[in-house]
Amino acid sequence: LKIGVLASGRGTNLQSIIDGIESGEITAEIELVISDNEDAGALERAKKHNIDSCYINPADYETDQDFEQEMVNNLKEKDVELVVMAGFMRLLSPYFIRQYRHQIMNIHPSLLPAFKGLHAQKQALDYGVKVAGCTVHFADEGMDTGPIILQAAVEVKWDDTEERLAARILEQEHKIYPEAIRLYAEDKLEVIDGKVKIKE
Ligand code: GRF
Repeated sequence: LKIGVLASGRGTNLQSIIDGIESGEITAEIELVISDNEDAGALERAKKHNIDSCYINPADYETDQDFEQEMVNNLKEKDVELVVMAGFMRLLSPYFIRQYRHQIMNIHPSLLPAFKGLHAQKQALDYGVKVAGCTVHFADEGMDTGPIILQAAVEVKWDDTEERLAARILEQEHKIYPEAIRLYAEDKLEVIDGKVKIKE
């Protein structure tokens, strides 16, 4: 399975996927890491593991579509079959989604459909929920919507800060994202009526 990763930040989810591949748990290879942030730690991690990477500057493109076309060109050139968004902080347009229907995964640090959008961990704290968590899903045209693949829950402690809760959730992200990609690589995921069936 040929994977392309889109990442804007430090890349710890990317790292967990790299580790899963290098340990043999995931039968796949990362063909390309694309970032819209030239300082992204994710680019450093790719280089360290001899994975092709590129910084694509959105400001270099007239429109969002031109920017996305550039990303798609790079991904198609590498025959990428699964696009993995790992802390990619831009919304993909319907144009991009159409290129890769049910071939784009995203991870979000909440138990969707609760707390979509930014600062999901803070949203959970502010609401006062006792259970939080993270979700891996197929991306669709919406924001943090699309068929849910895997979720993991964590306890919210009464004195939690956003940072402590985010760290507890991140530990689970690093478990469920590689697992979701392993299932996909082994062709064990099927989307039926907008719901994901795991054939394991
Ligand atoms: C993670 O919390 C993920 O849920 C969210 O952005 C963060 C990415 O972290 N989408 P990293 O760059 O993978 O460390």
